[in-house]
Amino acid sequence: MPPLRNRNATVYCPGPRADIGQARDSCSGRPGPNDPRGRSGPGRAASRAHPCVRREHHPVPNTVLILNGPNLNLLGRREPSVYGRETLDDIAAACRVRGEKLRIRVDFRQTNHEGELVEWIQQSHADVRGIILNAAAYTHTSVAIPDALRAVALPCIEVHLSNVHARESFRHHSYISPVATGVIVGLGSQGYLLALDAMARLIADADAANADGPRSLST
Ligand code: DQA
Repeated sequence: MPPLRNRNATVYCPGPRADIGQARDSCSGRPGPNDPRGRSGPGRAASRAHPCVRREHHPVPNTVLILNGPNLNLLGRREPSVYGRETLDDIAAACRVRGEKLRIRVDFRQTNHEGELVEWIQQSHADVRGIILNAAAYTHTSVAIPDALRAVALPCIEVHLSNVHARESFRHHSYISPVATGVIVGLGSQGYLLALDAMARLIADADAANADGPRSLST
């Protein structure tokens, strides 16, 4: 897949580097509540482009939030037969490398707290083009996280390292999946990289739709 066009190469967000545990990126304000962001499938992403594709008014790079839920900070020593030997730092580093190739700024975070995930989703600033989410155990319990995803209406790709459908029955249900644009399970850390590739395509499609199609975001 070709890398994303980056129409903003000369102007970079002055915010801090996004590393694991950083509370939030400092750049830009949040979109208003009525911003019609494109999400929920390639078709809709193409027809209802995110307002931030108007880069002439918002010259910052495309950012994708990669959010990780509880106990994923223990990867590497947590049930290695299920989750493998890679640490979350390894996965973050691989995502950043893939992000550079795709010309996407990767903002990779982990928390053990549901409310923090909700706040990070709510605070998605205007240059965030999508969210890749492994909500871990909250996948199977949280109503607040999918509600926040619905509220920000960004494309979301749900990722699980393990094949949750081949595990205990309580892991078969996800509260995130109905809100997600796509779901990747059972491919280990590769799932995060595939999610980034897919997100790059969603962003490129939205940009292309915005460049070629009608400019009005209200339709
Ligand atoms: C997980 C699967 C969840 O069921 C579990 O609670 C996790 C990790 C995964 O990545 O496979 O913590 O999300």
